[in-house]
Amino acid sequence: MNTIYCYTATGNSLYITKHISEKIQAEIIPISNKEQICNSDVIGFVYPVFFWGMPLSMEQFVKDLKIQNKNAYIFAVYTYGGTALFCAVALNNLLKKKNTHLSFISSVKMVENYIPSFKVNDNPAIWDNADKKIEIISKSINERKNSKFHTGTFINKIIHHLYPAHNKNCSKDFAVKKSCIGCGLCSKICPTQNIKINNNVPIFENHCDHCLGCLNMCPYDAIEYKNKTNGKTRYKNTHIKPNEIIEWRNKYK
Ligand SMILES: Cc1cc2nc3c(=O)[nH]c(=O)nc-3n(C[C@H](O)[C@H](O)[C@H](O)COP(=O)(O)O)c2cc1C
Repeated sequence: MNTIYCYTATGNSLYITKHISEKIQAEIIPISNKEQICNSDVIGFVYPVFFWGMPLSMEQFVKDLKIQNKNAYIFAVYTYGGTALFCAVALNNLLKKKNTHLSFISSVKMVENYIPSFKVNDNPAIWDNADKKIEIISKSINERKNSKFHTGTFINKIIHHLYPAHNKNCSKDFAVKKSCIGCGLCSKICPTQNIKINNNVPIFENHCDHCLGCLNMCPYDAIEYKNKTNGKTRYKNTHIKPNEIIEWRNKYK
């Protein structure tokens, strides 16, 4: 069986992964804090770009991952909302420390979910282009194509340095408004289980990936980040319902 490890907050990366997995016959395993042993011959990583790099908890996941077949064909597909270059270099560097490496890298531009800085740019052209790109990527994987490699740039390092999750206390910048009814969706959708519900109030702990799943997916727009998200449109991938993400993660707990 082929395996794709997927990280998602608002559904974009799971949307891409589902389509690729149908075409390459792969099991989709959530990137979580659970250690994995992988003996597949084809291994994929699909994830959102966070500040030109990967989500913080994904770094640990890859470090802990035991890849048994050192000759496996390994690919990475990252989703992004605006601009992102060479965003699989850090992943490749982690894999090289395990005596493996990425064979194929691609990316898919999706709808932007980083609403503290950008507007949600949901439009039909993004979806058309994404669906076309999925076809090309799946064909390339099935043909075991190899990508040309880039070693990354200094800009990747500078931009990734700005990623708020490097600060353990970054969740203190989230505020919960009175419109919160304590439904607990934020807690269930959080990929790092960083939110606990106490007396119907979300309490943020200190292992946040800053993925903004809680903020974007809240049905009541009750979570804000600093003073940067007030009144701004939230983003949810409408093809992937929150329950689908929650049930998929629960299946692999
Ligand atoms: C913390 C954070 C940082 C992001 N950084 C970038 C970035 O550097 N470049 C970019 O084009 N998009 C960036 N994005 C947008 C996401 O990568 C993009 O919307 C992605 O498709 C979301 O995937 P998901 O729905 O699977 O979580 C960022 C989003 C978040 C939450």
